[in-house]
Amino acid sequence: MNPKNNESVVLDRRKFLIGAGLVVAGAAIPFSAAALSGCARPQASLPDGVETTSTPTLTPPPDMATVPWQYVKLDSLAVAERAYAAYSQGGCMYGAFEGVIGELREKVGAPYTAFPTAMMKYGKAGVSSWGTLCGCLNGAAAMTYLVRDAKTGDGLIDELYAWYGAEALPDYRPNSPKFEIQPSVAHSPLCHVSVTTWCETSGFKALSPERAERCAWLTASVARHTTELLNKLADGETVAMPPLAAEVSGCLACHGKGGVVENVHASKASSCAICHEPHPIPPK
Ligand code: HEC
Ligand code: HEC
Repeated sequence: MNPKNNESVVLDRRKFLIGAGLVVAGAAIPFSAAALSGCARPQASLPDGVETTSTPTLTPPPDMATVPWQYVKLDSLAVAERAYAAYSQGGCMYGAFEGVIGELREKVGAPYTAFPTAMMKYGKAGVSSWGTLCGCLNGAAAMTYLVRDAKTGDGLIDELYAWYGAEALPDYRPNSPKFEIQPSVAHSPLCHVSVTTWCETSGFKALSPERAERCAWLTASVARHTTELLNKLADGETVAMPPLAAEVSGCLACHGKGGVVENVHASKASSCAICHEPHPIPPK
């Protein structure tokens, strides 16, 4: 490994440990229950040039190993702009996740200061360019499970994924865009389907700079909508799945749980017809 890179990785790690108030006598200590239950130590002996990234919170140190973490309502437009900027640093999943958590890092401080957000870069282009789950949606779902219990989180994910499959997106235009971007309806949470549908609508190629810009806008749009939904939950409102499209529930009546041919393991979908021709009943 390039020693210079390694050094900067170590420094980054130190920075967020310091941000979380986890530095003793200038030396980073590993995460442990003991470290987390103690108060933030005085930072008088920090090495020169190492800045704290946030003020440690005055509330008791949270147990980082337990979710959900504290969520405070966020400005969804600030999240969108942050997500748009983060897209160019680490792709769609990182962008959507960092858009939200970056605002929480500023507003709440620890434990958000200690979250290794860079891990979310794996989700780019449907997980390392495999074209599976759209990275924006992957990042938004991960964020949701960080700040919400599973049941409430699932309701938010359902709403978000249904919205993603049905709306003309992107629906957020960043303040300083590189190009103007035409929206399209994805009909699916999959990166491959979403991107190719957009290519068909717009006429641009899948590896073009315009497509990258479209995904950056989409990252901002998804981060914004996720924040709106998280804010609703914070206000005590409920967020849940709209009814499945009749086309989909019709197929699942036979192919889903308890149907005559229970062979489809997807109880929710935006569309089946995006990939399958409807067949005559009974099938020939
Ligand atoms: C009334 C029940 C029923 C409904 C509704 C239904 N299917 Fe089927 N489907 C079947 C049966 C039965 C088969 C044949 C299964 C077999 O031969 O193993 C089948 C076969 C299929 C196949 C295999 C290839 C083919 O065409 O034969 C696909 C794909 C499929 N269905 C998709 C769909 C989709 C998409 C919908 C909704 C638009 C749908 N089905 C609605 C009962 C249904
Ligand atoms: C992103 C594309 C995509 C979507 C969306 C999708 N499928 Fe499929 N489906 C496939 C592929 C690929 C296969 C495996 C190849 C094949 O048999 O067509 C498959 C297989 C099937 C089969 C078995 C076909 C067989 O030959 O026996 C059924 C039944 C089926 N899908 C039903 C559905 C239903 C119902 C939905 C909606 C809830 C759905 N699919 C949504 C891509 C998709």
